[in-house]
Amino acid sequence: MQYSSAILAAAAGLITTVSAHGMITSPTPRSAGTAMEAACGQQVYNNQASDSYGNIQGELQVAATQSDYNAAECEIWLCKGYKYADNTANVQTYTAGQVVPFTFDVRAPHTGTANVSIVNTATNTIIGDMLLYYSDFADNAFTIPANETSFSITIPSDLGSTCATAGACVIQHWWNAASIDQTYESCVDFTVGASGSSSGSSSAAVASSTAVVASSSAVVASSSAVVASSSAAAVASTTAAAAATTSSAAAVVASSSAAAAVVATSSSSAVPTTLQTVVASSTSAAAAAATSSADDECS
Ligand SMILES: *[C@@H]1O[C@H](CO)[C@@H](O)[C@H](O)[C@H]1NC(C)=O
Ligand SMILES: *[C@@H]1O[C@H](CO)[C@@H](O)[C@H](O)[C@H]1NC(C)=O
Repeated sequence: MQYSSAILAAAAGLITTVSAHGMITSPTPRSAGTAMEAACGQQVYNNQASDSYGNIQGELQVAATQSDYNAAECEIWLCKGYKYADNTANVQTYTAGQVVPFTFDVRAPHTGTANVSIVNTATNTIIGDMLLYYSDFADNAFTIPANETSFSITIPSDLGSTCATAGACVIQHWWNAASIDQTYESCVDFTVGASGSSSGSSSAAVASSTAVVASSSAVVASSSAVVASSSAAAVASTTAAAAATTSSAAAVVASSSAAAAVVATSSSSAVPTTLQTVVASSTSAAAAAATSSADDECS
């Protein structure tokens, strides 16, 4: 029985690996990294590093034969085993009530259901209600509706401090194509309710705050570059990014009536002037302070 379902699962995996794929492409989601590798093992890591669109069942097939797969550490049903420690540079800072746009790439559809929810990573449980639910997602019979590839969620106002610490919560997109036994998860790390005046202390904090301000793919790309830089350079290029995207920030204000202000409390005293300009010109400022320790940035 077990044997034959394993065979069936393997067959399904082989046949359908190329026929259903999808992931969040913006904001930058968790991806395969060294923390995942340590928890899930070399082959499971390789599986996802080579195809970030891959499904959980595919990972489990690989894991089944690997002695370095640690199920408890990997937590494969949470974010496909992807770890916060591999995504500290991409922690989004949100405020209650903020409308957050997402893009999702349905690279290859297969009919299923999906939801977008805030998940408590300590317990792998949904906090509150699902934010979006699709009773018929990526249906092969139809053209993919626009709201599957571009959608927004509103950050709930009742989270309190539950998600104030980076890594405590993710926004998870969960797509289950049950008929082919393939489940996909994409996770965006974020904080909400973090104290705005406190310790954003690293270049990573500046960069992810910039991503919050920008919300547009062009600027997300430049903040990714910032993440890779060292702190001094990061401050400088973040300044450029912020300057370049003041109009994007204004557009965000206009469309969501919530301005995200960057609070960059860097140990370096050079708070970029353009960031201050952004703050000053924001009417309803949502403080964005990402907490990121030096340890988190090691990979
Ligand atoms: C929504 O997604 C979660 C995983 O984040 C899953 O456990 C749950 O079953 C999904 N809910 C529904 C109604 O499909
Ligand atoms: C997406 O749009 C379709 C119509 O194209 C609608 O039936 C469905 O309810 C929408 N789903 C969500 C989650 O907004």
